[in-house]
Amino acid sequence: MTKTETYAALKTEIASVISGETFLPARYASAACLLSQAFRPRFFWTGFYIVDPLKTDELVVGPYQGTLGCLRIPFGKGVCGTCAVQRQTVIVPDVHVFPGHIACDSRTNSEIVVPVFDAQGELAAVLDADSEMPDAFDAEDARGLEAICEILLTT
Ligand code: SME
Repeated sequence: MTKTETYAALKTEIASVISGETFLPARYASAACLLSQAFRPRFFWTGFYIVDPLKTDELVVGPYQGTLGCLRIPFGKGVCGTCAVQRQTVIVPDVHVFPGHIACDSRTNSEIVVPVFDAQGELAAVLDADSEMPDAFDAEDARGLEAICEILLTT
């Protein structure tokens, strides 16, 4: 399967698994699991940072697959916090030259972070995929992950 076909199949599978599920952590956890499995070992850390409902300028770690992630990321900090402020996908080919990158695991060399919006169009979370490979993510990953993030809270 090509990468585009894999993303299309994953979107269908995730939509089917989360269908009718109202507990949001179950939705996030299922997506993190299926993405991580489909793209290992390229995806070294795959998961969500969720907008803290009690502190809406801060992200707090949600369901993920991988090594220990840092618990909180203020808006504007690191790649995840940058994505949260810009509300658009951020691809970082080399995290070591990204200003303010937060190194939860020093083995990460590149990453992509995609915003997740709720049915009202409010930012709910960001999806973070990290890789040990340099320059692991491209526009096809952005399109595929965005398509999955679009249905995550809205179907
Ligand atoms: N690298 C991220 C932090 C989260 S973890 O790597 C799991 C960042 O700079 O936003």
